[in-house]
Amino acid sequence: MKAWAVKMITIAYHDGTPENEKQILWAERLTARLKHIRLVPLSAPHAEDADIALVWRPPAGRLRQLNQLRLIVSLGQGVDHLFSDPHLPDNVPVVRLVDPDMSHALSHWVILALLDHLRDGPAYRLAAAERRFDSLPQRQTAQMPVAVYGLGAIGRVIAHRLAALGFAVQGWSRRPRDLGRSIQTHHGEQGFQNIVSSCIAHICILPLTAHTTNLFSADVFAAMPAGSYFINAGRGHQVEEDALLNAVRTGHLAGAALDVFVEEPLPDTHPFWKETRIAIWPHVAAQTNPDTAADQVAQAISTVLAGGQPEHIVDKFRGY
Ligand code: GLV
Repeated sequence: MKAWAVKMITIAYHDGTPENEKQILWAERLTARLKHIRLVPLSAPHAEDADIALVWRPPAGRLRQLNQLRLIVSLGQGVDHLFSDPHLPDNVPVVRLVDPDMSHALSHWVILALLDHLRDGPAYRLAAAERRFDSLPQRQTAQMPVAVYGLGAIGRVIAHRLAALGFAVQGWSRRPRDLGRSIQTHHGEQGFQNIVSSCIAHICILPLTAHTTNLFSADVFAAMPAGSYFINAGRGHQVEEDALLNAVRTGHLAGAALDVFVEEPLPDTHPFWKETRIAIWPHVAAQTNPDTAADQVAQAISTVLAGGQPEHIVDKFRGY
C-alpha cells in the first residue's frame, strides 16, 4: 500500500481559445499556490473526473458531464457565458473573478474612450495623417454630467476616477447604492429615466441578466440628450445594435465606443465597421491576468476543498 499516496485535485480548464492558450500559465500560477493539483483541458475525456472547472465560454452541456464537480470558477468577471448554458449543473457553486487589477484596467479603457472622444482624437489622427495642423474648438468638460450604469466592483472604480477628473458623475444600479458625496446615485426604473435624460456621456458596465438584456433600446437612445456619447464595456446583448447605429447615423448620438457586441468576433459584414463614429475594440478592455487573479482562484479552490464557502459566489437568481 502506498501510504503517501495523495489525491490529485483535477482542474478542468477552458479559456475559449482552441489551443487553451493560457493553460500553462494558469498551471504554473496555481501550482505555486496549491498542492497536488493538475490542469487538464475541459475537452479531454479524463476531465470528466474533475473537481474544479476553471472556464471561459465552455461548450454548452460540457460541465454537466463532470459529475464530481465541486466548484465552477469563471475566468472572467462576467458569468453570462456560463448561465447561457441550459445544462449548467445547478448544484455546483459558481465563483466569478473580482480582481482589482481588472477594475483598474477597465477604468483606464473607459477614460481612454471618453477622453479620446471629448478631445477629438479621431479627427486629429485623420488630420495628422493628412499633415494638417488644424485646431478644433475645445469642448468644455468641467462638470460635464457622465452616467455610469452598474456600480459593482468595477463601476465604482470608474465612477470615482471620472469624478477625480472633474466630471459630474452620476451612477445607476438596480438597487440603491451609496458612493459618497461626490457621486449622485440613482436606482430602479425611474432613476434610470432620470440619469439617461440628464447625462451627456453614458458608460455601461452592467452584468448581463434578464433585466439588462436590450436595456439600451431605441427609446433610451432617443431619451439621451442630443450629442451624447455611449460607451459599452458591459455586454453586447444589453444594446439594441440597430437602434444604436441609427442614433449615431442620424447624428442624435455623437458616437460610441464599444468593447462588446451581440456577436463576437464582430462579423466582417457588420455595419458598425463602416461607421467611423463608432470605435470598435475586440473585447479587450480588461483581459484576465493570471498573475493577479491566481490568488483569488487558489483561495476559492482551497476554501471549497476544505468544505467552506468561497468569496464572490454568484447568486444564480440575480445572475451576478
Ligand atoms: C470580460 O468581459 C469579463 O467578464 O471579465
